[in-house]
Amino acid sequence: MTTLITGGTGFIGWNIARTLKEKGKEVILFDIFPPRKYQDLSELTPEVKFKKGDLSSWPEVLEVVKNYNVDEIFHTGALVSEVCENNPLAAYMVNINGTFNILEAANIFNVKKLTFISSIATYSLGQTETITNLSPQRPFSMYGVSKVCGELLGEYFGRKFGLDFRGVRFPSIIGPGRGLGGLSSYTTLMIQEPALNRSYEVFVSEDTVCPVLYYKDAIRCLIELHDAPSDLLKSRMYCIAGELLTGAEISDIVKRTIPDAKIFFKPDPEKTRIVKSWAQKIDESAAIKDWSWKRKFNAEQAIIDFIHEIKSNPEIYN
Ligand SMILES: NC(=O)c1ccc[n+]([C@@H]2O[C@H](COP(=O)([O-])OP(=O)(O)OC[C@H]3O[C@@H](n4cnc5c(N)ncnc54)[C@H](O)[C@@H]3O)[C@@H](O)[C@H]2O)c1
Repeated sequence: MTTLITGGTGFIGWNIARTLKEKGKEVILFDIFPPRKYQDLSELTPEVKFKKGDLSSWPEVLEVVKNYNVDEIFHTGALVSEVCENNPLAAYMVNINGTFNILEAANIFNVKKLTFISSIATYSLGQTETITNLSPQRPFSMYGVSKVCGELLGEYFGRKFGLDFRGVRFPSIIGPGRGLGGLSSYTTLMIQEPALNRSYEVFVSEDTVCPVLYYKDAIRCLIELHDAPSDLLKSRMYCIAGELLTGAEISDIVKRTIPDAKIFFKPDPEKTRIVKSWAQKIDESAAIKDWSWKRKFNAEQAIIDFIHEIKSNPEIYN
C-alpha cells in the first residue's frame, strides 16, 4: 500500500508523513517545493520518498499516482489564504484545477480513499452564529471559494465514481514551522517569534477572534478520520472546532511562559476584516458522534508544548 501526500513538504503534509512512517507505511510526498530547512531530511527513507511535481499539471499528477501504485491519498497541497487573495488565477489553477486533477487520477487508477483538508474560511457571508457541518457555505475570500469547490468536486467523485472521499474543515492550525502565507498565520507567529527571542507585529486587532487547533491534534484528527470505517461516516466533510481565542488571549498565554515576549498589535484593516468574517463558533458534534473525534490539547497546553518544541531546536526554525 502506498500513501500519496500532496503538499507533502508543507506544514501539515510533512507531519502526516512522520506519523505514517511510524506506522510503517510507504509514503510519497508530492510537492512543488523540496523539503524545507526545518524538516529533518533523514526522515526521507526508502519508505518515505519525495517526488517534485505541480498539482496544476495533469501529466505530473497522473504520473505520480500511476508510477507509485498509489492506493490512498491525503490531499493537503494548496495555496493558502493570503496567496489566493493576491493571485486568484493561481488559486484557481492549484486549489480547484489541481484538486480536479488529483481526483481524476485517483479515479483512473482505482485509488481507494482520499482525505481532503478544507477550512472554516468556507463560511462567511450570512452565516449563523454557530456553524455546523450542514450550514450554508458562502465564502468571502478566493481561498474559501476554492475550498468549497474542492469539497464539492470530492463529493461528486464519491457519488459518481465511488471514490471514498472524506475531509475536515479546519480552524487555524498552530505549530512549529507553519508557513507565512495564511491570514491566520499570526496565531502561530505570535508564539513562534517570541520563542525565538524575536518581536512580532500582529496584523489583526487584539479583539479579533480565531478558533485554533494544535498541530498534534490536527494530524491525529486527519489520520483518525482517514482510518475510520466508511459506514460510520454520515457526512463526507466534518467541521472541527478548535478553541476560540482573541489575539489578546494568545498574547497573554505566551507571556505567562515568556514574560518578556514582545508582541505588538498593528492591525491591517482588510486582513482583520477577512479573519473576522470567518466562522467562529463551530459545532463539531458530528465528528464526535461519527468517529469519536476528541481534542487533547487545550490552548494553554498547546502553547506551552509549542514553545518547548521551538526552544529545544531553535536553529532549525530561525
Ligand atoms: N494551516 C492551517 O491553519 C490550515 C487551516 C485550514 C486548512 N488548511 C489546509 O491544509 C492544507 C495544508 O496546509 P499547510 O498549513 O500545511 O500549508 P503549507 O503551505 O505549509 O502546505 C501546502 C503545501 O502545498 C504545496 N503546494 C502549493 N502549490 C502546489 C502545487 N502547485 N503543486 C504541488 N504542491 C503545491 C506547497 O509547496 C506546500 O508545501 C492546505 O490545503 C490548507 O488549505 C490549513
